[in-house]
Amino acid sequence: MSKKPKSGLAPAPVKSASNPAELKALSVCASHGNRASELLEILHDVQHELGYVPESVLPVIANAVNLSRAEVHGVVTFYHDFKREPVGRHTIKICRAEACQSMGTDHLCKHAEKSLKTDMGGTSPDGSVTIEQVFCLGNCALSPAILIGDKLYGKVDAKRFDEIVAGLSKETAA
Ligand code: FES
Repeated sequence: MSKKPKSGLAPAPVKSASNPAELKALSVCASHGNRASELLEILHDVQHELGYVPESVLPVIANAVNLSRAEVHGVVTFYHDFKREPVGRHTIKICRAEACQSMGTDHLCKHAEKSLKTDMGGTSPDGSVTIEQVFCLGNCALSPAILIGDKLYGKVDAKRFDEIVAGLSKETAA
C-alpha cells in the first residue's frame, strides 16, 4: 500500500536514490528515523554533509519522511540559511546594516560583485568565493565589516577587499 502524505497534498513521485547525494540524503533521513517532525534537522544535516541542498534530493527526502515534495521545497526556500547551489571554498559575509552602510558598504558590495563576477548570494565562476549579505557583525565601530569563516575584518574598502581575496587564493593554493 502506498504511503499518503500527512498533509493530504499530492504525494511526491516515487523517487529512489540514484546518486551519492541522494544516497547521503536517505541515510540522513534514516538517522532521524524518517520523521517529518525532524525535517529542519534533516535539511541542516544534508547541507552539512553536501555543502548545500541540491534540488535532486528534495523528492528523495519527501518520500523518506512521507511529505509532499512541495512541503519540503517550501521549507528549503523559506529559510535563507539553506543553500540551493554549491558554495565556494570561502564564504565572505558582507555587513549591510546601518553603521556599515554609512561607511560605504553599498559601494563595497558592488565592488565585490564586480570583482568576483557574481551577484550577492552567488559564487565566483572559479568556485572559490561565495558572497553573502548579513546585517550587523557586531563590528560597527570598524565599519564596513566582513566575516570570512570565524575571522572578522574591519574598515574594509575595495582595495582591502581585493587584498583579502588575494590572500584567500594564496591560502587555497598553499
Ligand atoms: S552595522 Fe556592520 S558590523 Fe554592525
